[in-house]
Amino acid sequence: MKVSTALFSSLSLCISASSSLYIPLSDSFSNSKLSSLLSFSLSPNTYPNIDELPLIDTQAYQNLVNVTDLESGANDLYSFAEYSIKQYDHPTRVIGSKGHWKTIGYILSTLNRYKYYYDISTQDFFSTQGKVKFSMLKVNDQLVEDAQPLSLTPPTPNKKAVTGPLVLVDNEGCDVSDFKSNEAAIKDSIVLIKRGTCPFGLKSQLAGQFGALAAVIYNNEPGLFQGTLGEPLDDQVASLGISSEVASIYIDELKNGATLNTTVVVDSYIQKIKTTNVIATSKSGDQDNVVMLGGHTDSVEAGPGINDDGSGTISLLNLAVYLTNFKLNNAVRFAFWAAEEEGLVGSTFYVNSLSPKENSKIRLFMDYDMMGSPNYAYQVYDANNNDNPIGSEELKNLYIDWYTENALNYTLIRFDGRSDYDAFIKNGIPGGGIATGAEGIKTKQEASMFGGVAGDWYDPCYHQLCDDLSNPNYEAWEINTRLIAHSVATYAKSLKAFPLREDLIYSQTHKVPVFKYHGDHLII
Ligand SMILES: *[C@@H]1O[C@H](CO)[C@@H](O)[C@H](O)[C@H]1NC(C)=O
Ligand SMILES: *[C@@H]1O[C@H](CO)[C@@H](O)[C@H](O)[C@H]1NC(C)=O
Ligand SMILES: *[C@@H]1O[C@H](CO)[C@@H](O)[C@H](O)[C@H]1NC(C)=O
Ligand SMILES: [Zn+2]
Repeated sequence: MKVSTALFSSLSLCISASSSLYIPLSDSFSNSKLSSLLSFSLSPNTYPNIDELPLIDTQAYQNLVNVTDLESGANDLYSFAEYSIKQYDHPTRVIGSKGHWKTIGYILSTLNRYKYYYDISTQDFFSTQGKVKFSMLKVNDQLVEDAQPLSLTPPTPNKKAVTGPLVLVDNEGCDVSDFKSNEAAIKDSIVLIKRGTCPFGLKSQLAGQFGALAAVIYNNEPGLFQGTLGEPLDDQVASLGISSEVASIYIDELKNGATLNTTVVVDSYIQKIKTTNVIATSKSGDQDNVVMLGGHTDSVEAGPGINDDGSGTISLLNLAVYLTNFKLNNAVRFAFWAAEEEGLVGSTFYVNSLSPKENSKIRLFMDYDMMGSPNYAYQVYDANNNDNPIGSEELKNLYIDWYTENALNYTLIRFDGRSDYDAFIKNGIPGGGIATGAEGIKTKQEASMFGGVAGDWYDPCYHQLCDDLSNPNYEAWEINTRLIAHSVATYAKSLKAFPLREDLIYSQTHKVPVFKYHGDHLII
């Protein structure tokens, strides 16, 4: 499959570079087409001397990218997703599923063929997953039809109804004082809290600490919102969201002294799931100057996640194989994150586990999530050196320059915590990346720049069952895989023009950005 075509590529490259001919490992040597190309046999223990390989070169590396390898990788991921059907009734690679474990096994077994080239490790951690089976909000016996439970909400006690008066919390319910001012009324009530300033999770926790039975959080913008409480905190209570329009009616009534008899029912569960990141660092190159890149291996429960982020996963896995044709000046580290969809859990766990010394060795992190959306735009994260660690802007410019040199259009998109770069930039590591769009709507101008359909989502199958083999735009995916290759090759060859890491007091001297999103989840 991908590995054998990669071998084929390696062979031609090595021959043309007149370095020693090799096969990375005998167990991958099963492709008959490739076998027939070779008129002699190779010892199973013949590994190349990495120092004798040609130095990484961006054009040579980009030339190895082959859409056939991307397609066969996507096919493999889809076949893994199908193993989950028994448990989930549809293909998925959500954490904890067979489809996700098979994805991880596949990455490991592919990388293990190149053990002479990579130091490979796994990193286990727990991630929280939850499901709301039923929820209901009634105010004065009127059902509030568009009330939305927050993700990861705890159930009401015994999953039964709780009833109490609706009580408005001062300000935005982010501070103890907002509750203290009305302490007696809040006990055994259902609190009504405005969205904004601090995470939903904190509002719910404070509500619980002051004895509220449940929390209703109302939007500070028109319409509804779909938020999450995030990682469970002690004392949180069942929490639902309502629109600002509905809330304003209640607030007026409360201000006029009315009592609003309110009932909440939430039947939900939260569970801890063990899962794993896979990390592979090249043995070649300076280990104190690490060029890091990552994509996430998990999908949402709703579907097989072939674009999100099967595409990034397969791009990186292929590029990890292709890279074994080269020696490097700076080490390259590939990260295959788990539990991105649960709220960037794997990448956050990884960054938080780094010692200050290990952190300081990572010169930059490049995020590759959703490389081939069907109604794509070539999107570059609009990172900069004022709001983000210095070097983020140089990385952004590398992407822009490449699209420009290749006569391709691009757009800049918000760099606001929606993927696995989040923990890196919050911990002083320069970051950036590219994407091709999720649930955003393509503008007319973008349709003239990239083709596709104005008014539709970039990925109409985003987080759905139809994110299957027919979903990705393979041409866009291939082009972006070349750009990933270019980013790796450029920095693996030289970081001389790239800013040095700022010292590690970064987080003390810089305000850590507060983002509304953590991954795909709205947290504030
Ligand atoms: C890609 O790989 C396939 C075989 O897997 C090969 O037939 C094809 O020629 C390759 N394409 C390029 C552009 O190298
Ligand atoms: C409040 O609503 C509950 C459930 O609808 C009802 O049983 C209870 O009698 C009501 N209390 C008041 C004071 O209206
Ligand atoms: C880039 O966008 C312009 C319109 O802004 C369009 O005319 C041109 O064809 C696009 N280039 C490519 C390569 O799609
Ligand atoms: Zn994703």
